[in-house]
Amino acid sequence: MNALLSWLDNRVGVKSLVHEALYERVPGGARWRYVWGSTLVFTFAVQVITGFMLWSAYSPSTRTAWESVYYIQHEMFLGYVIRGLHHYSAQAMVVLMAIHLMQVVIDGAYKAPREINFWLGIVLMMIVLGLSLTGYLLPWDQKGYYATQVTTNIMSATPVVGAEVQILAQGGRDYGHLTLTRFFAMHAGILPAMLVGFLALHIYVFRRHGLTVHDPKHAPDTTFWPDQVLKDAVACLAVLATVLILAVLRPAELSAPADPAVKFDAARPEWYFLFLFRFLRFHAVEALGLTFGAIIVPGVIMGIIAVMPLTERLLGRFGHLVNKGFMWLLALGVLALTVLAFYEDANDRGHQAALAEAHRDAGRAIELAKGPDKIPVEGAVTLLRQDPFTQGPRLFAQHCASCHRWNGHDGRGSLITDALQPGQSGAPPMTPPTAADLGNFGSREWMRAIVLDYSNHFRWLKNAGWYAEARQKTAAGESVDFVDPDGSEMANWTADNTESLKSAENADNVTALVEFLAAEAGHAQTQYDAALVQKGRGLATEGSWAGALSGTSCASCHETIGQDFPTAPDDSSASGYPIMAKYGSAAWLKDFIRNPGAARHYGAKNRMPAYAPQQLSDTDLDLLVRWMTKSYAASTVPDYPSQLEALNAAMGGSTTAAPAAADKSEAKTEETAPKAEEPKAQ
Ligand code: HEC
Ligand code: HEC
Repeated sequence: MNALLSWLDNRVGVKSLVHEALYERVPGGARWRYVWGSTLVFTFAVQVITGFMLWSAYSPSTRTAWESVYYIQHEMFLGYVIRGLHHYSAQAMVVLMAIHLMQVVIDGAYKAPREINFWLGIVLMMIVLGLSLTGYLLPWDQKGYYATQVTTNIMSATPVVGAEVQILAQGGRDYGHLTLTRFFAMHAGILPAMLVGFLALHIYVFRRHGLTVHDPKHAPDTTFWPDQVLKDAVACLAVLATVLILAVLRPAELSAPADPAVKFDAARPEWYFLFLFRFLRFHAVEALGLTFGAIIVPGVIMGIIAVMPLTERLLGRFGHLVNKGFMWLLALGVLALTVLAFYEDANDRGHQAALAEAHRDAGRAIELAKGPDKIPVEGAVTLLRQDPFTQGPRLFAQHCASCHRWNGHDGRGSLITDALQPGQSGAPPMTPPTAADLGNFGSREWMRAIVLDYSNHFRWLKNAGWYAEARQKTAAGESVDFVDPDGSEMANWTADNTESLKSAENADNVTALVEFLAAEAGHAQTQYDAALVQKGRGLATEGSWAGALSGTSCASCHETIGQDFPTAPDDSSASGYPIMAKYGSAAWLKDFIRNPGAARHYGAKNRMPAYAPQQLSDTDLDLLVRWMTKSYAASTVPDYPSQLEALNAAMGGSTTAAPAAADKSEAKTEETAPKAEEPKAQ
């Protein structure tokens, strides 16, 4: 061993090299405040190692980037740990860098003769920030895609050469595949190579001048080895442990595959850029333009930091005080803006809703990718595009939520509220729904409500403008066709038979009828009891009820109940009663949505718009209807929570009173009053 060492030493001089490295003098003793630089070198080493591991599984293209990161995160052995280490070490590096910079300024380590090294440090900092920026895009998920688009737009605000800079970074006029390959080349090639080069210089120059000793009488001088090495090692291990714990307990996120067609309102930069993001949102800053906020101000700040050695030279001790003061102010400002950004986001309903949707989409995309069908060759982006569980809520919010609700919300989890009038304050008033809540459409619950609770089930219609108008006209003796939850034929029929339907002797019959009706709607994820369905069919068509209902059947009005839904529905056999053949099924729904005013549906009573293919394409109609009939791969991703309670609480008395036009405006002003009081009595 010794022979080998001296052989090597003879040729390359390792011994003196190692000696020089380890026996560097540390005046004033080893100290914790010197560890920051070492931890930075260490985290960078972690980045290089985990980076190469990730690279061996990563594939940069718009159709494979998300897919390969999905593979790393969810299928590769320990892949999530490696990715987590890379993810959190990157953040650790930014934090450590900030601390290192603060410490250098406070200890005056930037002063002559160390100016050059200070500037090298600033260059290193820019490279590290560049590495984080470029890395954020690589998974090609919604979050990275939209946040990075903000960055490339900021680049275009560079004075004079903005457009060129943007094209250069983006790989052309459009943001897309070439942006990804370019960012990858920067992230895994150019920037790390630059970092290694500048780091070597930084360390070389540092060794030349030695440590800046804050307080030389702190302790007797020592050498780097073993005291300071021990402290450095402990610090590095602490960083590694923190990062490892985070990687395992809070795995790095992978949001849904990037889809240029789906706006992503939850996009935010990495948390350590939030301060800049928040700064740009001040009205005053916005008014001065992106170039001012995103280029000039950060440029001036970096400039002030860069000239700190000169400031100190010119102004002496006072200059040093100015520099320290500036750093503290900057740190406080960054901290305050970051806290403000988090605070505002947490209290921003719109942002929270967007986040909830982003989580749902992310979970769903991963669930589908793991599923039996795997990722299609066209790429993971089609997973969600073709998924009713994802698209249904969006289509519902877009087309139907102006009248209907879905478990009280707009389909995407948000309550619908009116805009606040000028001068109003507090929570915005709830917008009253004007048609049925379809959250449980076609389920047993829905069918039971139709049979036992018809008026109440459709009470929402009474909030509609047309309703008040129709009631007034009827009162004035005009004949108007409309669905009146309080007085239509169906409402009257159920009202007349309430007692019998709710009596103990018909309880089993109602259960059977409900089972039959629900089975007709046929939700894909529900099992129906065949015997009950059979019995229910008899009750609906032949009327084998007990007691007062004996001999009555739904078929006496709805002739088509129990039949198959016609393949080419037309109105030739319309009886004036809504077609009940496979009521609530996909075929029935599609026909209804395309033409609710057909005589076979609501006819002249109809108040719902018809959706022609120009408004709602066949593909979208299919997605919407499959979502409504639960015809999709079951999901373990939690759905949006029901908002019915909040809606009902806000709507208060409107469930019972039939509001005339005047009542309605009264109800509105009432709702704008503070909501804290207990719900209004029914
Ligand atoms: C006296 C005639 C009559 C009887 C009996 C009757 N209905 Fe109806 N039903 C109607 C009318 C009329 C409508 C149209 C809506 C309205 O006017 O309220 C309707 C509407 C409906 C609707 C909503 C239709 C749609 O297009 O959304 C359902 C569901 C329904 N009935 C189910 C039943 C069931 C189940 C039975 C048997 C338990 C039944 N009806 C018995 C007359 C009747
Ligand atoms: C302008 C308001 C409005 C819009 C928008 C609207 N609806 Fe309706 N919808 C109604 C009204 C009102 C009824 C009750 C029947 C009627 O008056 O035509 C109804 C009834 C229904 C029913 C039947 C429930 C039952 O059994 O009676 C379904 C299902 C339905 N709508 C689905 C949809 C879907 C899906 C969309 C979006 C593509 C939509 N609606 C958009 C107003 C609307």
